[in-house]
Amino acid sequence: MTVEKKSRNPKRSASRMSRIRPSGLRKLFELEHKIAKSTSHKILSFGLGNLNIPTMPEIIDRLKIALDDPVSHRYSPNAGLQELREAIVERYKAKYHLDYSPNQVVVTSGCLEALIDTFIAYVEPGDEILIQDPTFGYYAAQIRLAGGKVKPIPLNNNFELEADAVNETINSKTKALVLNFPCNPTGSVMIREQIKAVVEIASDKGILVISDEAYEAITYNGHQHTCAAEIDYDNVIIISSFSKTYCMTGFRIGYVLAPPEILSSISLVHQYNTACANSPAQIAAKIALDSPSSIRNSMMEELTKRRTETIKAFTSVDGIKVDYNPLGAFYIYPDVSGLGMNGTKFSECLLEECQIVVVPGSEFGTATPDHVRVSYGFLNQEDIREAGTRIQSFFS
Ligand SMILES: Cc1ncc(COP(=O)(O)O)c(C=O)c1O
Repeated sequence: MTVEKKSRNPKRSASRMSRIRPSGLRKLFELEHKIAKSTSHKILSFGLGNLNIPTMPEIIDRLKIALDDPVSHRYSPNAGLQELREAIVERYKAKYHLDYSPNQVVVTSGCLEALIDTFIAYVEPGDEILIQDPTFGYYAAQIRLAGGKVKPIPLNNNFELEADAVNETINSKTKALVLNFPCNPTGSVMIREQIKAVVEIASDKGILVISDEAYEAITYNGHQHTCAAEIDYDNVIIISSFSKTYCMTGFRIGYVLAPPEILSSISLVHQYNTACANSPAQIAAKIALDSPSSIRNSMMEELTKRRTETIKAFTSVDGIKVDYNPLGAFYIYPDVSGLGMNGTKFSECLLEECQIVVVPGSEFGTATPDHVRVSYGFLNQEDIREAGTRIQSFFS
């Protein structure tokens, strides 16, 4: 009996995978591990967009009790626990005066699931999706996985998105604009008038606005975040999560808020993607929203102090500049070109010579190769000061 030769290659991945490159962070982290083995110095990592501040004990204590209830052991409704969706809606009413109903919320596994569900639901092959440059590296990969084309728009010198730049980039293939303020990697924010101007351009041109507001609750010096949905335009999708607001990155709970006719497709993708977000984690998220807002005070006090120390540590050397005001998230984005190197060279040099990890600007687009992202989410103040001492003694 002859065996028919198979023409298919089961090991060949889908062609869309050729448009996805592994994160360059991997190279940096490999180098970090290599150096960690060969040095007695502690590696100080400003690399991760993660928080080492524990989730508030109030949330954990009440969650432990809630875990005895079998409701937390089962699938939740696809869109998420009703009580959680109601609490999310109440929060948006109280904070932004927005009138969502619980059926305009889908609870997801973090912002990341909310984002990819949205791209799968709305991006068609050939569609162009506008993103900021620099911005969070996941957008480009997720848009490409959904079959879309990424169109970056460089931010201005203060790392804000200018409405004129958006206007000039939109063409007949443009489907959506992804906004991200407070911004990862820059920590920059936009005031209400700026958000309004950008959303109004999207409205004039009839494109979707997908606003990733993962850091909406982390702002400094009294900056008031404007939710993009506060601007009068029907086609705005808000994506956010509990990860950064409540130091709950590992719980993986996020959500999408959108008008019902937009949300229904996203909800369908979510249904077939994960069925529902993790039930115990949804209960934890509900507890977080029920807790007094003061439970976040110590986290914000700590981040505010770290922010001051980090700016001091990185600007103590001539040639490293932070000449804009990072008023959100937990990043600063210095320009290191004054040292005669780009961000990639600087991050390698900092790791090899000072055992300090930062992420080169090339990980966040092509517009800012001379910058590095410095995250102060994962290092305490003492370590940040130690980093400052190492940087000063090496570069001077
Ligand atoms: C801008 C931005 N959006 C989304 C995420 C992912 O958030 P989540 O943990 O909710 O999936 C991150 C994580 O660093 C981020 O920086």
